[in-house]
Amino acid sequence: MKIIAINGSPRGMEGNTGRLLEEVIAGAREAGAEIEVVNLAQEKIRPCLACDNCHRTGTCLLKDSFEEVKEKLLACDGFILASPNYIFSVTAQMKAFMDRCCGMIHCMSLEGKYAALVESSGSGEDEEVLDAMERFVNMLGALSVGGVGSPAAGARTFPDEENLFARARELGRELCASVREKKGSPEQQAFLHAFRERMQRLVSYMGEEWPYERAQWGKK
Ligand SMILES: Cc1cc2nc3c(=O)[nH]c(=O)nc-3n(C[C@H](O)[C@H](O)[C@H](O)COP(=O)(O)O)c2cc1C
Repeated sequence: MKIIAINGSPRGMEGNTGRLLEEVIAGAREAGAEIEVVNLAQEKIRPCLACDNCHRTGTCLLKDSFEEVKEKLLACDGFILASPNYIFSVTAQMKAFMDRCCGMIHCMSLEGKYAALVESSGSGEDEEVLDAMERFVNMLGALSVGGVGSPAAGARTFPDEENLFARARELGRELCASVREKKGSPEQQAFLHAFRERMQRLVSYMGEEWPYERAQWGKK
């Protein structure tokens, strides 16, 4: 089972988010997953230009690392998204990546895949950032198995660390169990159902303007 961990922290695996992500990865490895980490700060992923080329052709005009990361996501069984809280949201690195996924969102290209979420903050609003990442996962067509987030207590340390790390490892194991057992989530599936209708309507409305996305929905 192949799991891709996408980390949006500018500090990569050396930061607080990376420390918590290590525990989720350890849980997933225990459950038999092969993990690949993509540190967005080490990749070149420029902000979306809104040129609509992805909608027309399925690929991005910007020649940087995005298409490579996209291919890894399309090929994986599950993925992990990790970001620190930057002003109640994800980092600029993670947001640039999310925006570049707009074409995948229109096609709900990650249907059938599962994701886990990781967040760290200076002092809170962890759920707000986890919720933003969960909504993104659902817009891609994937199901979230949950998230783990916490304020840090210093460099790479957290309050009540034993309990937090136990939850993080359990999340990693749960990600693998969900992939294996193809678990459902009625609440998220209701969102996916409504979002699927919305995307199909949008792509149908755009007609010949977006031939790639039209063909993708035709194949589903
Ligand atoms: C630009 C910036 C914005 C931040 N905004 C917030 C915030 O709104 N709320 C918060 O609790 N912490 C905030 N923080 C603190 C980080 O979320 C926190 O230190 C986090 O654990 C850093 O993770 P990292 O070591 O993986 O980079 C901010 C940090 C930076 C650099």
